[in-house]
Amino acid sequence: MGVFDQSIAVFLAPVKEYLDDPSVTEILINGPAEIWVERKGRLTLTEAKFHDEGALQAAVRNIAQFVKRQIDSQHPQLDARLPDGSRIHAVLPPSARKGTTVAIRKFSKAADLSFERLISFGSISAEGAEFLTLCVTLAKNIIVSGGTGSGKTTFLNLLGGLLPKEERLMVVEDASELQITAPHVVCFETKAADHEGKGALTIRDLVRSAMRLRPDRIVVGEVRGAEALDLITVMNTGHGGSMGTTHANTPTDALVRLETLATMGDTTIPLAALRRQIAGAVHLVVQAKRLHDGSRKITHISEVLGVDEHGRYETQDIFKFVQTGMTEDHKILGEMRGMGNIPTFYEEFAVNGLHFDIAKFGKPQKQKAVAGGHSSGHGAGNSAGHTAGVGTNPQGSGSPSVATGAAAPGVPALSPQAIQAIRAAMAQLNPQQQQSLQQGAAKSGVTVEQYYHLLLEKQKAAKGKKPAA
Ligand SMILES: Nc1ncnc2c1ncn2[C@@H]1O[C@H](COP(=O)(O)OP(=O)(O)OP(=O)(O)O)[C@@H](O)[C@H]1O
Ligand SMILES: [Mg+2]
Repeated sequence: MGVFDQSIAVFLAPVKEYLDDPSVTEILINGPAEIWVERKGRLTLTEAKFHDEGALQAAVRNIAQFVKRQIDSQHPQLDARLPDGSRIHAVLPPSARKGTTVAIRKFSKAADLSFERLISFGSISAEGAEFLTLCVTLAKNIIVSGGTGSGKTTFLNLLGGLLPKEERLMVVEDASELQITAPHVVCFETKAADHEGKGALTIRDLVRSAMRLRPDRIVVGEVRGAEALDLITVMNTGHGGSMGTTHANTPTDALVRLETLATMGDTTIPLAALRRQIAGAVHLVVQAKRLHDGSRKITHISEVLGVDEHGRYETQDIFKFVQTGMTEDHKILGEMRGMGNIPTFYEEFAVNGLHFDIAKFGKPQKQKAVAGGHSSGHGAGNSAGHTAGVGTNPQGSGSPSVATGAAAPGVPALSPQAIQAIRAAMAQLNPQQQQSLQQGAAKSGVTVEQYYHLLLEKQKAAKGKKPAA
C-alpha cells in the first residue's frame, strides 16, 4: 500500500467501508455528519460520520496535497482522483453551507461495465451495440450526450475500446477517467494554473496540440467549452471516427449545446455555416439517461441528417428505448427498439464488407421519431414489409440521376426492362419518398434506380432470413 493509500485509509476512515464496497458507486458527503451512498442508482443515508468539520477538511486537504492541487479559502474547490482512479470533487464552506461537501465517484474497472453487461442490464440492446460497433469501424463521428452521472463517460469508454488497434488515438480529458487500451494511444490531461496563475493548459489547448500530433482519431472526454469548435473542426477535417461527450437531454439538444459552446470562443463563423458544420461533422448522437428508477440506459441512437431551412437540426432515431410499463416496485420496463429508419450511410456497411441485417432497424413507425421537436426521416418503404425507409440527406444533390446502365463497383447493372419496372414502382411512391430516394442515391453515388433496386433486394433478403413478426 502506497503512502497516499495509507493516508487516505486514515483520513477517509469513516467512509473506507464504502470505498471498499464494490456495490457502492458513489459516496456523497454533505458536511461531516451526513453521508449518503449510491447503490444500483439509488441513494441511501448512512450512519457514518466524520468526527467534525476539521477532520473532514483535513482529509480533503490531504488528498489535494497528494495530487499537487490546492484547497483552501483562496481555492475552495478541488477536482482530484484517488489512487484507485475514483474521482473526487470537493467544495469548502462557507459556499458549502452544510460544511465541506464531497462527491466521490467510484472508479469502475472497464471490465466491470462491458457491452455484454450493459446488454444484460437492459441498458442497450444487442442490435444497438452491434450497430454502434460497426459505426465505429466505419469511422463515424459520435457524440455521447446525457445529463450528469447518466453514464456518458462509461459509454464513451466502451466505444473507445472498439477503436481500430492500428490507429493513433489522441485522448484529451479534464481529469483522466477513460481507460482506452490500445497499442497506440496518447493521453492528455488539462493542467491547472500555478499559484501565479500561469501554466494552465485547457482542453482547447490540448485539442489543438492533438491536431498537430498526427492523430487518426481524437477523443475528447467531455466537451464543455469553446473546444467544441475544435472538435467539430477535427471531425470535419478527415479525422473521422472522433468522439466526445456533452451534457444535453436529447440528441438535438446535444447539437444545440455544441453550437452554443462553439460560439463561446473567438469564432466569427456565421451561425448558419456553423450549424451546417456541426450537422456535417457529427454522424451519430448516443443519448444516455439516468431513469427515475435509478437505472442508466441508452435512450437514443440517432443519426444527424442535417439542418432544415429554418436552421433546425434534423435527426432520425435509429434505435430508441421504449418504456412499456412499470413493475410494482417502480422498476421501469421497456426495451430498445429499431425505429424503422435506415441510416443514410447504410450502403457503407456492405461496401466495407460489414453485414448488418436490415431487419434489425425495425418496422417503420406509424409516427416518426421526433427529436427536439422536429420530425425527420421519411419512410419510403412499401406498406407491407420491413422498412425500406430512406433517411433524408440534406447534402444530397436532389437532382434526378440518369440511369446509364454502367454500374458502380458492387452495384448490379440493370437491364432497360428492369429500369422501366423500377421506375414504374417508384412512381407509386409519394413525392417525399421519391425525394428521399434521390438524395440517398446521390449520396451513395449510384443511380436512383440502382439505389431503389438495392434497397428492395436488401428488404427481400431481410424478410427471407427473418419473417416479419
Ligand atoms: N449502463 C449503466 N448501468 C449501471 N451503471 C452505470 C451504467 N453506466 C454508468 N454507470 C455507472 O454510473 C456512474 C456514472 O457514470 P459516468 O461517470 O459514466 O457518468 P457521466 O455521465 O460521465 O457523469 P458526469 O456527468 O459526472 O461526467 C458510474 O458509477 C458508472 O459506473
Ligand atoms: Mg463523465
